[in-house]
Amino acid sequence: MCDEDGKPVRGSLTDCGALVTKTVTLDEREGNPSPRLVRTPSGWLNSMGLRNPGAEAVLRYQAPNWASWLCPVVVSIAAHHPASWTTLASRFDGLENVAAIEANLSCPNVAGGLDASIHPKVTHETVKAVRRGTSLPVIAKLSPNVTDIRPIALAAEDAGAHALSMINTVRGLVIDTESGRPYLGAGTGGLSGPAIRPIALRFVYEVADVVSIPVIGMGGVESADDALQFLMAGASAVQVGTARFNDPNVIQDIASGLRRYLSITGFGSISDVVGLARADESPAEVDLDHVAV
Ligand SMILES: Cc1cc2nc3c(=O)[nH]c(=O)nc-3n(C[C@H](O)[C@H](O)[C@H](O)COP(=O)(O)O)c2cc1C
Repeated sequence: MCDEDGKPVRGSLTDCGALVTKTVTLDEREGNPSPRLVRTPSGWLNSMGLRNPGAEAVLRYQAPNWASWLCPVVVSIAAHHPASWTTLASRFDGLENVAAIEANLSCPNVAGGLDASIHPKVTHETVKAVRRGTSLPVIAKLSPNVTDIRPIALAAEDAGAHALSMINTVRGLVIDTESGRPYLGAGTGGLSGPAIRPIALRFVYEVADVVSIPVIGMGGVESADDALQFLMAGASAVQVGTARFNDPNVIQDIASGLRRYLSITGFGSISDVVGLARADESPAEVDLDHVAV
């Protein structure tokens, strides 16, 4: 996806560090009853219910394309029992251009989907099960639907997670006042987008303080400034989800905003920004008036 001069074209994947797949389960899942998505004032409420064609179909029809993608692929997986987490993780081991497994411990829209991200003991057991199945790095995706995320993050780290990603969606509800019923077919859903950004930032900030493994931040990232907030809170990388619904070029814009930020501030690399907002670091005094981040 380069032009005649070899420069990446807008919308290409070259600015992404990696692309995370939709969560794959061992067997095909129809997903939750529709409607599965509704707009809210500052984000979306969704209840997809892990709709996906199942691991065998993904391996047969999607995985062969991954080798030629311009960025590495992270395969997101979810299962119910330790043995099936191990089996599922093993199915994606050794594929060309697959860089890591993200264990979705935190889907709020399926029965039992949150179990592995609410109870530290189950988190530990689940991450261990995923590690058993794969030689790839394992990223544990955590939930905001908890009172204190730190014991859960520590349990994932202790079980061998190579990184944490946070946050999954925040449980919420929209009522259709015409019918007097919940709007989504499944009733409740998970909120994403800018509405959850301050919540996500707080979780990243707290967790980065207690773990030694990298944290990947997400939740309402739609600009370089948003990405910088996550990095300053302690994330080593960010993911972008909902913002791509509105703007397919958002990732390229975020990446070029971050490059501009580095060149104007004189920071040598993004890693110099990571954790700046933490109390024990000296905050950066940067005049951003002329930086369009
Ligand atoms: C329509 C939709 C589908 C999603 N599907 C998944 C999924 O399959 N697996 C997963 O781990 N997270 C899923 N998420 C959650 C996102 O990956 C992300 O954690 C969350 O939306 C917050 O980031 P954002 O505000 O940038 O979207 C989904 C979110 C949305 C809006």
